[in-house]
Amino acid sequence: MDYAELCRMADEARGNSYCAYSNFSVGAALLTKDGKVYKGCNIENASYPAGICAERTAFVKALSEGEREFEAIAISGGPKGDNPNDAFPCGICRQFMNEFVSSEDFDVVIVHDDMKYDVYKLNILLPYSFGPESLYK
Ligand code: THU
Repeated sequence: MDYAELCRMADEARGNSYCAYSNFSVGAALLTKDGKVYKGCNIENASYPAGICAERTAFVKALSEGEREFEAIAISGGPKGDNPNDAFPCGICRQFMNEFVSSEDFDVVIVHDDMKYDVYKLNILLPYSFGPESLYK
């Protein structure tokens, strides 16, 4: 799948965001190695820490359906109703993703306001990470 299409799907997922408190809507589209896409959005809560980011929503949907092999995630985020504007994944999401991918291979695709995008390997966004392999060496 072409990343422009993945970005379009992330932006579409953004439309379902429940961001009653921050008014910052985020959508994500997670591409599996066999070409399936799981979409997610941020879902906030009156108890603020109970909210979840778009990226983890997409990952949890995919993981809970048994998916384990991932290629890339596109992220589209910005103030609700405005164009996307370079929403990078938060630290918790970077750590969450790192558990399930090989960070030097996994692409994080960030949508710009004109729907163009940039691609970063996860290990660039989360260097010197602590992951499953750190526990048992
Ligand atoms: N948010 C995401 O969905 N993904 C990120 O990586 C950054 C932040 C959400 C969380 C919250 O609902 C809103 O954006 C403002 O922080």
